[in-house]
Amino acid sequence: MPGPSDTAELEARVRARPLPRHVAIIMDGNGRWARVRGLPRVAGHRQGAAAVRAVTRAARRLGIDALTLYAFSMQNWSRPADEVEALMLLLVEFLEKEQQELLANGIRLNAIGDLERLPARVGSRLESVRQATAGGQGMTLTLALSYGGREELVHAARLAAARGGPVDEAALEAGLWTCGLPSLDLLIRTSGERRISNFLLWQAAYAELYFTDVHWPDFDERELLTAVADFQARQRRFGLTGDQVTGPGGRE
Ligand code: FPP
Repeated sequence: MPGPSDTAELEARVRARPLPRHVAIIMDGNGRWARVRGLPRVAGHRQGAAAVRAVTRAARRLGIDALTLYAFSMQNWSRPADEVEALMLLLVEFLEKEQQELLANGIRLNAIGDLERLPARVGSRLESVRQATAGGQGMTLTLALSYGGREELVHAARLAAARGGPVDEAALEAGLWTCGLPSLDLLIRTSGERRISNFLLWQAAYAELYFTDVHWPDFDERELLTAVADFQARQRRFGLTGDQVTGPGGRE
């Protein structure tokens, strides 16, 4: 187990280099975390909510501008009704308990997805925390809820068509639910799967992808620092050659 001084050293290294502005996470593995402990799936989600708190705090402390979390996909509506109900309850609980901490730390809460589909108590709580934290300048925490990347693209295309101008990249970009957020730099997925699962399909075009076997409830500040350090060691080329990015024989 790495000790606190290893984490401090890792943090110092990470702070010495440019940070990703926008980090998104596919929080996978709550169910498996619970199963290996002989616990019900909901216990995994509960521990997952605790990880959301810890990682939000860590991202803010580090100075990341935007953190986007895949909390409930459009496809998750098809899970057993009691699991959906438990997730909605955890969300309301999270919003109730965290409002003060979000405010105190200048974190602006945002939500993306087909939010109309959320139960009224989730929707109204979301809206009140969104309004209360709207002035936050420190970091934007976006919860993707009832979210699907394809659905978002359909929404953006419809908006662009309804506006009547050219349906080009800028018009689609302007209709995305993520409009206004910095472009996505780093997409993390926990728990060993290597898929995007309909998350931020457009936004991930040039994002760096990072996969870890750690189940989401065990993902903590150190895991976040490890992912960011991995990101910082990469060369982002956006379709150019290495020489174009760094100069011949040069380093980034
Ligand atoms: C994936 O694990 C996780 C989810 C479908 C939900 C994510 C929800 C939380 C982290 C908790 C509540 C969120 C907030 C914002 C408070 P899985 O159930 O698919 O795990 P498995 O693949 O191991 O079964």
